Amino acid sequence: MGADLERVLITEEEIHAKLDELAGKIWADYEGKDLLLVGVLKGAVMVMADLMRALPGTAPMDWMAISSYGSGTKSSGVVRILKDLDADITARHVLIVEDIVDSGLTLSWIKSNLESRNAASVEICTLLRKPEAAKVEVDVKYVGFDIPNEFVVGYGLDYAEKYRNLRVVGTLAPHVYS
Ligand code: PRP
Ligand code: MN
Ligand code: MG
Repeated sequence: MGADLERVLITEEEIHAKLDELAGKIWADYEGKDLLLVGVLKGAVMVMADLMRALPGTAPMDWMAISSYGSGTKSSGVVRILKDLDADITARHVLIVEDIVDSGLTLSWIKSNLESRNAASVEICTLLRKPEAAKVEVDVKYVGFDIPNEFVVGYGLDYAEKYRNLRVVGTLAPHVYS
């Protein structure tokens, strides 16, 4: 599996150090508030697991499944809900947890969808962001790493559902696509 990687962009140690740092900021910012972490399946599973364990205290999680990519590497921009939240978020402070903001289409759609449910606040935490790929502006409060506009896999991010379990974030070797 590691042989399918061309280049490691972010190591396991760098990911965990960054998530520890973000968790500390989040905990301070939401002190005394009813915080709900909302993960976006499936890419966010690793970020959610490690971010929430890095929090100095406890907070509940919920999940949404949204479809925006097919099995390929390009965003279709099509967003539909495959699984909705279990929780009612009225008057609650929602922090959306994501692996990556690429075109921004998924997150801008989810953010406005959740805001329309009368949450007290809706903010975004993402491990990765590709500033050069942005098609829409999304206000992201917590960003782990800005990365170049290359297709990346690992730590939750997939290519045709594979490589999510890589411990690092990296680019795929050309032979994988052909
Ligand atoms: C990926 C990624 C983000 C979204 C970002 O999810 O996990 O959720 O795309 O792309 P965007 O900014 O261009 O909208 P994907 O749709 O591949 O589903 P997955 O999380 O199940 O892999
Ligand atoms: Mn996703
Ligand atoms: Mg995907």
